[in-house]
Amino acid sequence: MFQMKTKFPEDFLWGGATAANQLEGASDVGGKGLSLADVYTFDEKMPKEQWSDQWHLMTHKQIEEAQDPASKKYYPKRHGIDFYHHYKEDIALFAEMGFKAYRMSIAWTRIFPNGDELVPNEEGLSFYDRVFDELNKYGIEPVVSLSHYEMPLHLSTKYGGWVNRKLIDFFVRFASTVFDRYKNKVKYWMTFNEINCVTHHPYVSLGVIEENHPNIEQAKFQGAHHQFVASALATKACKESNPKAMVGCMVSYQLLVPYSCDPDDVQATVDKQRTSLFFTDVQARGYYPAYTAKMLAEKNVVLETEPEDEQIMRDYPVDYVSFSYYMSSAVSAHPERIEGAVGNLLTGGVKNPYLPTSDWGWQVDPKGLRTALNQLYDLYQKPLFVAENGYGALDVLEEGDKIEDDYRISYLKEHIKQVKEAIADGVDVFGYTSWGCIDMISAGTNQMSKRYGYIYVDQDDMGRGTKRRIKKKSFYWYKNVIATNGEQL
Ligand code: BG6
Repeated sequence: MFQMKTKFPEDFLWGGATAANQLEGASDVGGKGLSLADVYTFDEKMPKEQWSDQWHLMTHKQIEEAQDPASKKYYPKRHGIDFYHHYKEDIALFAEMGFKAYRMSIAWTRIFPNGDELVPNEEGLSFYDRVFDELNKYGIEPVVSLSHYEMPLHLSTKYGGWVNRKLIDFFVRFASTVFDRYKNKVKYWMTFNEINCVTHHPYVSLGVIEENHPNIEQAKFQGAHHQFVASALATKACKESNPKAMVGCMVSYQLLVPYSCDPDDVQATVDKQRTSLFFTDVQARGYYPAYTAKMLAEKNVVLETEPEDEQIMRDYPVDYVSFSYYMSSAVSAHPERIEGAVGNLLTGGVKNPYLPTSDWGWQVDPKGLRTALNQLYDLYQKPLFVAENGYGALDVLEEGDKIEDDYRISYLKEHIKQVKEAIADGVDVFGYTSWGCIDMISAGTNQMSKRYGYIYVDQDDMGRGTKRRIKKKSFYWYKNVIATNGEQL
């Protein structure tokens, strides 16, 4: 009756993940509109601390400047790595590694350039037809996010972003359009990438400009509520279009552990872990968890809802739970008492003395991935998908086109081992797409030089370079991992 699983399932979806706004480029080609991501600048002279500040705060002044054709600034995400023109070559390289799946996103702005049009842009739709056909040619399953940090800028400047309920209709129109168009080409969908990040960066997740909101918490949770409803309505539309399709949620999951066994640290960890679990609770179960009332009251948030919202969320929870996992963090109720405690920007946690950190201060904790998989499966009993996991580093291109990225191999190997452990624990995990299978623009810092790929792209932070694709050492390593279905790591 009980059979322990010691191997990855035969049909396990090995692959890599990217996002349209970070790799496609060609932002002025094929009728594409300007997206939120197209407004972020990069300048080598900019102090390092400011790189990711932009991610957290966007001002009207920056947005106006970005729309001015006379602006001399460099906007990296408008250029990406020019996947738009290199997609055949890039997909051929993914196929050479043996990818079974490729997680990507559709740029909303290619389909509805401003977001509020009634008729979609055919040129945008046909671009993704070509991409899906190319993947299909190699038997690679597309796993597609509808919204990955790039909604139309117009929806932010004209409507105020997701805080405005009208966004639900615009999103559902976009979602229904692509579900219908690609129903024979795409089976796996995700609605909002890292939906819980609305609380970290409301501009790029919600199109909400903080200057407009005296109570930004109100805007964040109102926007999140609208995304929950939109996600449920999109799931409904997807099922109507193709009953066999699977729709997942996607959260940024940082495992949080108590800094000590002090009961205050333990409770603080439970509270803080809800920065991710609140979102999976709503989307996987279909209703707000019991702690919502207290949590919103403490933030002075009063949600405006419509009577039908509750039912649609209950009727259309997601089919699977996907998440990104890069690191864990420790939580202390009294960080001021810990000497040298460094706050983690994303989680607000403190440094765990047992763990090493990457060059960007991310705490490397492979075993945490097994814990995360177990936690999520215990909670929801729904299939899980590791949508992102990877190691951002400054790679060096050496003589003879060599990139010896052993640090990346080691990071990925240790994490994949833990996925296997979780499978033995009984967790139903059906795929693993490492982040940034090809180098592209970093979401948080806007740099090119924070690289995650198996494939190096010859381009620097200011977009200079040949864009030549070069296989790293990790390319051959991952190819063998896939060929042996995770038996040789
Ligand atoms: C995830 C995002 O948060 O992390 C990706 O979904 C992002 O878009 C990835 O690129 C890595 O973050 P960064 O800032 O190093 O690019």
